[in-house]
Amino acid sequence: MRDSPEAIDTGLDAKAAAAALLRWYDGAARVLPWRVGPGERAAGARPDPYRVWLSEIMLQQTTVATVREHFRRFAARWPDIDALAAADEAEVMAEWAGLGYYARARNLIACARAVAAGGGRFPADRAALQALPGIGPYTAAAIAAIAFDAPETVVDGNVERVTARLFALTAPLPAAKKRLATLAATLTPAQRPGDFAQAMMDLGATICTPRAPRCADCPLAGFCAARARGIAADLPARTPRPVKPTRRGIAYLVRRKDGAVLLETRPPRGLLGGMAAFPTTDWTEGRPAPAPPLAADWQPLPVEVSHTFTHFHLRLEVLLARVALSALPDRGRFEPGFDPARLPTAMRKCWDAAAPHLDA
Ligand code: ADE
Repeated sequence: MRDSPEAIDTGLDAKAAAAALLRWYDGAARVLPWRVGPGERAAGARPDPYRVWLSEIMLQQTTVATVREHFRRFAARWPDIDALAAADEAEVMAEWAGLGYYARARNLIACARAVAAGGGRFPADRAALQALPGIGPYTAAAIAAIAFDAPETVVDGNVERVTARLFALTAPLPAAKKRLATLAATLTPAQRPGDFAQAMMDLGATICTPRAPRCADCPLAGFCAARARGIAADLPARTPRPVKPTRRGIAYLVRRKDGAVLLETRPPRGLLGGMAAFPTTDWTEGRPAPAPPLAADWQPLPVEVSHTFTHFHLRLEVLLARVALSALPDRGRFEPGFDPARLPTAMRKCWDAAAPHLDA
């Protein structure tokens, strides 16, 4: 059961706060390629659920700055659900390169195919959305609110921060998540809930920022309990995260005499699942067991490549080899038209580190 927002007396005039935020949004909304801005909306335009869905999947764990350009390219190449449902999976994975969390791209294709098979329309309610691949409670609420103007509360990190400050909730995250969601729900208005959700995100991204919030410019300053107590910049409190371990591995970068590069497709489950990558050893906290894909005269790169995943830091030693046209690797395939833009970021870093040494 979710707490009923009406049952909570928060001491804050939610209606007035929502109205103030929407007034601010009408003048200050960020222009985003998937967004129907408040002016267009007032003139009768409605968002395309496909674009809303696509943007929300991309924005899971990824910043607006990174998503913008990817979204433009992706939506130009696959402009609607039927186009994406018919797309080649490897092409979609390649286009996703650089966005990270590659399970999202696999679920994206599965979701597009499920929606297309069901007639091509996204459902408008949260529960039905959440039954689709890759759509969790947050994304279902975001699509229902933004695409269909359902009165759902959308709670991402920005909204948690704004809410913790508005109510001066000092209990630390992540334990305070539920309480923050309950408090945030007391703010969601019956009118324009989609714009309200986006206004909260924009406020968190541009005014109510993690450090040095710009309270002087904030439309909610007069409602903000943390500002009144002078503790806005200290919230939300956070229980320290455990330190990430470091894993090590070896990446094997093999170039054939004709320029083709050895790549393999990573197993569908697990890190970088389904993505093209250089062959590597397992990534382990101890010393990695060598696993070269072929016998060659391996040259180590002088620098290691570092990349941080959600739960660990990775340090990769990169070994280079140039091989004859007749070379037969025991795994992977030589790609003649190799395009480093199709690699996930960890592998792209290996390529960028190796490139200056390749023709030496
Ligand atoms: N972060 C997650 N969803 C977003 C959206 N629709 N607009 C801006 N930032 C977001």
